Amino acid sequence: MSDSVEFENAVTEVNDGLEQDVHSVEDIDTASDFELKHTPAIELEELKSGQLIKVSIGLKGIEHPQTEEHFIEWIRLFVGTEPVGERAFGPGDDVQASFEIERSSAQVIAQALCNLHGLWEARI
Ligand SMILES: [Fe+2]
Repeated sequence: MSDSVEFENAVTEVNDGLEQDVHSVEDIDTASDFELKHTPAIELEELKSGQLIKVSIGLKGIEHPQTEEHFIEWIRLFVGTEPVGERAFGPGDDVQASFEIERSSAQVIAQALCNLHGLWEARI
């Protein structure tokens, strides 16, 4: 199956339950280090032309490894249910992604896939 087909499937189901469980942190203050290092961090910057959304992985400075055995495979961004983009990563990569979008009041959803620990999501 190609990446684009998988992406379309994810988009269709973004608000509707994906094939695998989507993990997220309810309360950052009580989250474990395991949860913190998998959770997408979303930064929003206002631009004249719209908004710049920067996504990295890990909260409170707890970084996810990016080794041959254990790594983040991709980051995807949605605004509402609309897909904005996807960036793929491999071992050794600096895992961060920037997406420029039009100004929107819709919810921003960032998802990341860990090869060992599944799908993680954050919403703002
Ligand atoms: Fe992991």
